[in-house]
Amino acid sequence: MAGFTRRLPLRWQLALTLAANSLLTALVLGSALAVILGGDYTQAEDRYLQAAGVRAINELGRPGMESAKLAATARSVAISTQTRVKYYGASGRLLADSGSPRGLSPLAAPPSGPASAAPNAAPPAGGPGGPGQNQPGEGPLPNPGGTGIFGGPGTNEPPSSRTLRVDARGSGRQLAAYVVVGEAPASGWSMLLAALQGWLLAAIVALLLAGAIGYAASRRLSRPIMRLTAATDRMAEGDLSARAEETGGDEIGRLSQSFNLMAQRTEASMGALQRFVADAAHELRTPLTALQTDLYMARTEAGTDAERARIAQASRQARRLEGLADSLLRLSRLDAGESVECGPVDLRALISLCANTIASRAEQAGLSLEIDVSDHAPSMITSDAAKLAVAVDNLLDNAVKFTPEGGVVRVGASVDGAHALVWVEDTGIGIPAEDRAEVFGRFSRARNTSAYPGSGLGLAVARAMVELLGGSLGLAETDVGARFEIRLPVG
Ligand SMILES: Nc1ncnc2c1ncn2[C@@H]1O[C@H](COP(=O)(O)OP(=O)(O)OP(=O)(O)O)[C@@H](O)[C@H]1O
Ligand SMILES: [Mg+2]
Repeated sequence: MAGFTRRLPLRWQLALTLAANSLLTALVLGSALAVILGGDYTQAEDRYLQAAGVRAINELGRPGMESAKLAATARSVAISTQTRVKYYGASGRLLADSGSPRGLSPLAAPPSGPASAAPNAAPPAGGPGGPGQNQPGEGPLPNPGGTGIFGGPGTNEPPSSRTLRVDARGSGRQLAAYVVVGEAPASGWSMLLAALQGWLLAAIVALLLAGAIGYAASRRLSRPIMRLTAATDRMAEGDLSARAEETGGDEIGRLSQSFNLMAQRTEASMGALQRFVADAAHELRTPLTALQTDLYMARTEAGTDAERARIAQASRQARRLEGLADSLLRLSRLDAGESVECGPVDLRALISLCANTIASRAEQAGLSLEIDVSDHAPSMITSDAAKLAVAVDNLLDNAVKFTPEGGVVRVGASVDGAHALVWVEDTGIGIPAEDRAEVFGRFSRARNTSAYPGSGLGLAVARAMVELLGGSLGLAETDVGARFEIRLPVG
């Protein structure tokens, strides 16, 4: 799996994508809401200040207005509009300042006059302008919360920081004075804040809901994919009968159907191939046995040594073919799922039997054959004796074949933790380090064995047999020769 970057499982990816989606949507909507409401409220505030400013200018234009009364007028307008009113002369000199409208009481305002009527007066019709252009302000001021959801003046909120200047012009359009109004009621901002808090809460709930719904939906989606993956894994491990569950007619359902079709065809062709190999190997055995018999007869009847030598050579080749046919037949049966017939196996007896089978060959090769069964080795295990014997025979066959004259071949048993250990070792040519991992493969031979007969199937058969019995076959480290170890479950 090298080269693949590690990623979150699909179900988490989908859930997080949905959650991120909803968060993004909530953010966009929230920002739009904040911008629209904020802009709306700012405009409403400006309209309010504009109306208050116009009213303050109109008060200037009332007949009889004297400069001495300017402070009282500013104060009166400030109370009626709940804004801070500052009158300036044309030169920019401050003429009167009402102070903060919050500290002002209506009772403190002049009992009569323009300002006392202001709170209920109509708003001026025109925009900012001189006293001659605007009607006296007598109406209610526009609500700073233009949408109607905000509080009006008088609520207990910090005042607005916005200010507005309205000019008063004389008959010649020259600047006569101007007024700056500010500190208007700003309760709408807290309403806006409350709305944004509500939105934030709704966004968090939406985020959690989207995550949960996304997780549930992606679980539903990924479950058939995981089943399909499990089926492909089983197939990759060699179980050609593995099939995926065909759920629904969606894309994953169709993928499962395609996989099953492919698996069915692969299983059929592999079955046909195995049957062919098994049949071919089986068919080969009869003529090979007959050939061996004929060669034996011919050898006894041969007139010269040269003829006998040639016949012996032919006989060796025929034996090799027999061995190949046997291995092929065994492997094809194993691939087809050979059954195991378990029963009590006397390890010492089985090892002696295998050693006896190879003893005459070992002797002919000038090797000494030793048996070494430890006292700790389990005397009886539950296994399939015939299959175990095939594996030990193949190991012994190799040990004898690859050990030069004068060497030693040992076979024995001991215990390794919860396992019974059967081992075969020799003082032969050994296996080059570069080939150690490969020698259990089919038709695989180490580079130092070209002078020895063989087709590279014996270890593959032995390993397959041992694994069928629930054990393992491996190569151990040794200084001299080779040592193979079989680990088997005891019970
Ligand atoms: N005891 C051993 N000493 C040295 N090399 C060995 C030994 N056992 C196995 N090997 C190496 O492992 C290879 C594979 O062994 P395996 O038994 O599968 O094939 P083979 O003996 O060459 O042929 P076959 O068993 O099919 O007649 C051998 O060719 C050899 O290179
Ligand atoms: Mg072999």
